[in-house]
Amino acid sequence: MAIEFAERIRRIPSYPVASGYDLGADVAMLASNESSFGPLPEVVRAASGVLAGTNRYPDPSYWPLRSALSDRYGIAPERIALGNGSCDILLAAGEALLEPGAEVVYAWPAFSVYPLLPACTGARAIQVPLDSEDRHDLEAIAAEVTAATRLVLICNPNNPTSTSVGLDLLEAFLERVPRNVCVILDEAYCEFALALGDPYASVELLHRHQNLVLLRTFSKVYGLAGLRVGFALCPSEDFRAAVDQVRQPFYLSAAAHAAAVEALRHQDEVERRVTQTIAWRLELEDGIRDLRLWVAESDANFVWTVLPDEPGEDAVVSGLRERGVLVRAGRSLGREGALRVTVGTAEENRRFLAALGELVPSA
Ligand SMILES: Cc1ncc(COP(=O)(O)O)c(C=O)c1O
Repeated sequence: MAIEFAERIRRIPSYPVASGYDLGADVAMLASNESSFGPLPEVVRAASGVLAGTNRYPDPSYWPLRSALSDRYGIAPERIALGNGSCDILLAAGEALLEPGAEVVYAWPAFSVYPLLPACTGARAIQVPLDSEDRHDLEAIAAEVTAATRLVLICNPNNPTSTSVGLDLLEAFLERVPRNVCVILDEAYCEFALALGDPYASVELLHRHQNLVLLRTFSKVYGLAGLRVGFALCPSEDFRAAVDQVRQPFYLSAAAHAAAVEALRHQDEVERRVTQTIAWRLELEDGIRDLRLWVAESDANFVWTVLPDEPGEDAVVSGLRERGVLVRAGRSLGREGALRVTVGTAEENRRFLAALGELVPSA
């Protein structure tokens, strides 16, 4: 007899994880929107420095990171949630807010983890199509908010389409959403968004909207994807307590915690990397346009393009893979016939463009 699983296991979609880790070093890893820069030596030293003490659990208050983030964003440490990546906080928010009978509203395609929240909790998912420019349609999202809505997820800039919506539109949207409905603004890529300007600007919205959560991560701009650290600036201590209540106490490893604290001390280098990444993004976008393909207006560290019907998405993705370039196929992200490509180094981007040019030569 086979083991019987909970019914929800059949409902929960598998997150489309990247493959290609077995392909060796000579591969352009452009599938997961990671940073192409390695961690700073100081960050590596800080993480290594705690390893000798790992017979002990970490301090579960994670006070050094909470207070460093508090100083940086001007939000009380009690209102800062930490997690094993921001996905950890996202899923915890689903557990804390959703249940059968409740609704969660989000745009689609958006971040592939969002459908897990309703599937894990039995809540109903309301997916709202993006507009014709592959941006969030905030009017249409607001129109879907009902008495059953507990949570709205806004991905800004949006993964996978790379587009962003301005803070003025977001503020107008927040005015329309009832105060009992939580809005999570997932800002995993906000530092790369020229259109959004200052990555601090959305923090201002927290002072005016008591139902808003800003979700951020160390995985992208800080280059710590492998260590898994995310954080949320919460509207209240109650929200932070609720997401902590549904999780194990030691969600951050001591090494991840130490690395994040150190990473925050090097903002000049972070800014330099952002500037470089944006310059590479512009080159990548130009290169794709030179192949006569449409590219969404990117505000992130990745680009989103639509492929011609021939030779088709599968052939392009596998052709790129054969040429040592890993990207993410649109089908796995909610839109068949598209491609999401992380901005790599200049050399990786050239390699991608050369390979794409061979695969869609007549485009
Ligand atoms: C929009 C968005 N939010 C959140 C995350 C999760 O990041 P992490 O769990 O690594 O902090 C990602 C990762 O790709 C993302 O694209």
